[in-house]
Amino acid sequence: MNISPQIIEDIKARNDIERVVSSYITLKRAGSNFNGSCPFHSEKTPSFTVFPSTQSFYCFGCGAGGDAITFVMRMENLDYVSAIRALAERSGVTIPENVTYNNGKKEVTRSRVLEMNKEAARFFRNALFDPKYGSEAMDYLTKKRNLSTAVIKHFGLGFAPNSFGALHDHLKRLGYTDDEMVTGFLCGKGKNGSAYDYFRNRIMFPIIDVSGNVVAFGGRVMDNSEPKYLNTSDTPAFKKSKNLFALNFAKNHCDANMILCEGYMDVISLHAAGFQNAVATLGTAITSEQARIFSRYTKKVVISYDSDQAGQRAADKAFNLLQEVGVDVKILKMEGAKDPDEFIKKFGADKFAAIIEGSKTRFEFETDKTLSKYNISNVDEKIKASRELCRVIASFSSDIERELYSRKLSTILDIPLVSIQKEVASILRKKTNELKSKEQSELYRITSGLGDRVNPEGASNIRANKIEEAILGILLLKGDLVSFTKDKLTADDFVTPFSKSIYESIVSVYSEYGRLDISYIQENFTIEQFSRITKMMTERERLSKNDAEALNSLIESLKKEKTKKDDVDDSFDNIFDLIKNKKRN
Ligand code: GTP
Ligand code: MN
Repeated sequence: MNISPQIIEDIKARNDIERVVSSYITLKRAGSNFNGSCPFHSEKTPSFTVFPSTQSFYCFGCGAGGDAITFVMRMENLDYVSAIRALAERSGVTIPENVTYNNGKKEVTRSRVLEMNKEAARFFRNALFDPKYGSEAMDYLTKKRNLSTAVIKHFGLGFAPNSFGALHDHLKRLGYTDDEMVTGFLCGKGKNGSAYDYFRNRIMFPIIDVSGNVVAFGGRVMDNSEPKYLNTSDTPAFKKSKNLFALNFAKNHCDANMILCEGYMDVISLHAAGFQNAVATLGTAITSEQARIFSRYTKKVVISYDSDQAGQRAADKAFNLLQEVGVDVKILKMEGAKDPDEFIKKFGADKFAAIIEGSKTRFEFETDKTLSKYNISNVDEKIKASRELCRVIASFSSDIERELYSRKLSTILDIPLVSIQKEVASILRKKTNELKSKEQSELYRITSGLGDRVNPEGASNIRANKIEEAILGILLLKGDLVSFTKDKLTADDFVTPFSKSIYESIVSVYSEYGRLDISYIQENFTIEQFSRITKMMTERERLSKNDAEALNSLIESLKKEKTKKDDVDDSFDNIFDLIKNKKRN
């Protein structure tokens, strides 16, 4: 471990777990702890708990657990070192650059990737404007897609030459290593270990964050070949699910509203036509993190997805996520064009402004859609239409909305209000029950140890496993007791390999640093394993009197269990030998 306990302690001291968690979800005090709705699985009853005394969290519903660092890792989808950096940044702790990971490999830092991306963007742009490489690409953009040079420059578009090494060689000359290029997703790694250019013969769209950093690229082919786009995957400088294309421009034009599109080309067309409040997700469906970004910048979002079925389905999902974060959402109804880019080219900017103005709420949108699908003068079709629309109403989370839309629907379909209300209530009940039984079966799976991937040996060694968890839980809470167990208990006394590895980790950290905290061993485990480790600790919280005594008897019991287990294993071996010998005879 190269991030010293000193730094970890410093960061944890300045990032109180309750405060860190509260910046994402609402917590309510429950005795000395705090409860909230778990952000890592969907639940109706809050089972997510924060323990200030141990600076940890644990969800009794889904089993996610850890410390402030783990929480940020999970929430922001970061690796260990990046989560520490994020917390450090928040609290003004400085961490030395170029930390190395456990395996001795040098960390590729965010700032190096950003510098390298900037160089790459410059390289792509120069290639586009150099007729020797970029004339076909330039023709494509200006002639086929009707973009002006000004717009091309505004978005920093570029061209990746049709070569496996042009960018690689260029970056190498500037001092970047293969490891940095591969980690930064500009190069792939060949079978023989050499790095090659990932983007070849593609129009390049730099993704720029709100601080002006080039965080990633999208690369489009110029013909109909597949895949149409290649996009940067997650890197130390980029999380796909947390960025929006053109937000760097749109953030200054979004007081009234923002326009959410599907494609880079839609956004570019819209900006060129004066709609500088347009943004797009990065080749994936909108995430809840992206929805939260909208809520930070604007009050209203107009969803302007492709008019095909896939686009409309995606719009539905976007609608729900955006509604959840409290922005006012409207959906654009686009006729006569497949996407905003085509619409603007066919009908012009004024027409687009008009359909933005006339964009609909989801209820209006769904009602129109349903009424155009069914002939409601036919009783059977009217029933179908009412069922569908009741389902739409049931999907709204507020009572008031459900009530008001129910009234509207009652008028539109000429059906008594009570019937609509009954239908909506029954759909809601069904949904709640489904959710509940899902939560329960998940809980059963976790508590029964069935399908336990973290500690598969636990289920067949229930008693031993319980004892081991108790021992480890006490040690994790009272690190100093390691000096007491060190001579009495060895790693080989453990029955399950998972517990054994935790004990080894604990002992090695304690002998190196003279103290222990769950955070020091975190790096040696996966996030799921670490959740389980946190659980062991939180369960011990309740009985921590006479720990040394308790430990002593636990150790004795474990040794007994271990002997039993070895006997059983031996007898299995014997049987096995017998069978083998029989065969031979
Ligand atoms: P044009 O077809 O040139 O108008 O491009 P577009 O940007 O409008 O693309 P389209 O509407 O087909 O797709 C919307 C977005 O989905 C694109 O901007 C990309 O971000 C993403 N996307 C499309 N095709 C692919 C693909 O093959 N792979 C990946 N990873 N993303 C894609
Ligand atoms: Mn398109």
